[in-house]
Amino acid sequence: MSRIVHLNGAWVAEAEAKVSVFDRGFLFADAIYEVTAVIGGKLIDYAGHVARLKRSLDALGIPAPVSDETLLSLHREIMARNDLTEGLIYLQISRGAEDRDFLFSSDLAPTFVMFTQKKPVLGNPKWESGISVITWPEGRWVNRQIKTVQLLYSSLAKMEAKKAGADDVFLVEDGLVTEASSANAHIVTAGGVLVTRPLSNALLHGITRGSVLDLAARAGLAVEERAFSPEEAKGAAEAFITSASAFVMPVVAIDGKPVGDGRPGPVSRRLREIYIEDRLASAI
Ligand code: PDD
Repeated sequence: MSRIVHLNGAWVAEAEAKVSVFDRGFLFADAIYEVTAVIGGKLIDYAGHVARLKRSLDALGIPAPVSDETLLSLHREIMARNDLTEGLIYLQISRGAEDRDFLFSSDLAPTFVMFTQKKPVLGNPKWESGISVITWPEGRWVNRQIKTVQLLYSSLAKMEAKKAGADDVFLVEDGLVTEASSANAHIVTAGGVLVTRPLSNALLHGITRGSVLDLAARAGLAVEERAFSPEEAKGAAEAFITSASAFVMPVVAIDGKPVGDGRPGPVSRRLREIYIEDRLASAI
């Protein structure tokens, strides 16, 4: 049986229910959701789910797409349209769609989806047998070396930078810089040593980072792979970030304090030149 899905105020056959590839839920995990159980055609714990939904929306600054009354009537209508007496109602609201950027517009129309899942929720046989578990390290989300689209935090952090009149963030963990919101972070010491955090699951293994380190070493620059603190970065001769979109971008101020003389330094400038020259020559 084909379901009728709710999509942005319309009732649509499930095969016709489509969301833009530019949706921020898809590109940045910039979305929230709820799952509510239905038994005997009635919503279980509905008040709790709606309260959490509002907390989640508020936390992300996504406007509620419909009023409380409409939301409840949509739940009733989706049950009726899909003849759902037992199962689940899945609801997802994303910030909406626009061209990909970590910074987002404030006037986006949220994408609002609801669908049903008909399945027994009562009489689960495992209630009698029980289930087994294994222990596993908490990792939500500590695997930053994987280039996933779990980019919501980075996006929100970049919005905070914008609010503060800055362009980006240096993310700090345990007193040490991990990365910028979507680029690797580096400094150059007064003695001319390029310092960059070693590869681990704390940061994305930037392709540009790797290339720049190679080229820096080849150009005779001393490279030290160790973590650095925001204080060390503020006192450094230069700071810069690397990524596939920014190449080598000088960072001239951190928390409002100039780095070096507050202007792009010679090492970052030179590394950008070398990088572009070398990579253009090997571009395919
Ligand atoms: N971002 N760190 C993070 C968290 C990133 O998202 C990126 C890239 C980098 C740099 O990796 P590379 O040099 O391979 O581009 C480091 C891309 C450019 C983006 O999300 O737009």
